[in-house]
Amino acid sequence: MPYHMIDGKAIAQQVRNELKEEVGRLKEQGIIPGLRVILVGTHPASESYVRGKIRASEEVGINSELIRLNEEVSEAELLQKVTECNKDPAVHGILVQLPLPLQIDTNKVIATISPEKDVDGFTPVNVGNLIIGQDAFFPCTPYGIMELLKRSDISVEGKHAVVVGRSNIVGKPISFLLQQANATVTMCHSRTVDLPFYTKQADILIAAVGRTEMITSEHVKPGAVVIDVGINRKEDGKLAGDVLFADVAPLTSAITPVPGGVGPMTIAMLLKNTVQSAIRKES
Ligand code: GUN
Repeated sequence: MPYHMIDGKAIAQQVRNELKEEVGRLKEQGIIPGLRVILVGTHPASESYVRGKIRASEEVGINSELIRLNEEVSEAELLQKVTECNKDPAVHGILVQLPLPLQIDTNKVIATISPEKDVDGFTPVNVGNLIIGQDAFFPCTPYGIMELLKRSDISVEGKHAVVVGRSNIVGKPISFLLQQANATVTMCHSRTVDLPFYTKQADILIAAVGRTEMITSEHVKPGAVVIDVGINRKEDGKLAGDVLFADVAPLTSAITPVPGGVGPMTIAMLLKNTVQSAIRKES
């Protein structure tokens, strides 16, 4: 069966081009969107993600700054840095890269970020507003998935979406965004018994469980749309998703690759949230 490969890289570039134009218009009004990214330690994956975020934000004209803190930083020092960013009028978006070292209470740090500057959409206020369908910053990966579906003309209304994974960053928020878009949603996770029973009923399957290539053809209904959120490193060093692509793709009507699917959208939506935050504050 011919399938459509959803090109996340191209769609993300489209979003970034639109944002570049928007930032140009804002600059004419004297508004420069500002982003602060706080990185604790030198976790290689985090370093790479953060570099990508800073580079992309500069490309669209956002004033971005990386704040590096030592791996041994105390919770109080980190909270102080977040508070400074909360107060700084040039800052419209704050992102604390996760994971944080064990001496730091991650929930406490997230809750300290001002909800108006929470461009990751992780604070309790934004999560709560998302759940009750109010205006909120949506977490970037789920927001990116919704944008990928929209820009690929894949309608969600009335469809059965099955989400595998219940993380705060992806699984939980995407389930609410899909419901908001009138999908019927089933949540599965690593302890679900007989996973294929559920996933085989999916019109739209979201794989966000963080296990290399665990979704195979036995999990997928012919004609389904498969969105692979996994970014896993294989033993040979290559990146792989949560979906065994070569096995699953021929069954689907559309599928995202890894890399080049959901990943680039996460960054694009961070930029979108930051620009949106600047517009909200300054208008
Ligand atoms: N670590 C992995 N993904 C993310 C993300 O989207 N935001 C932040 N802040 N940290 C992450």
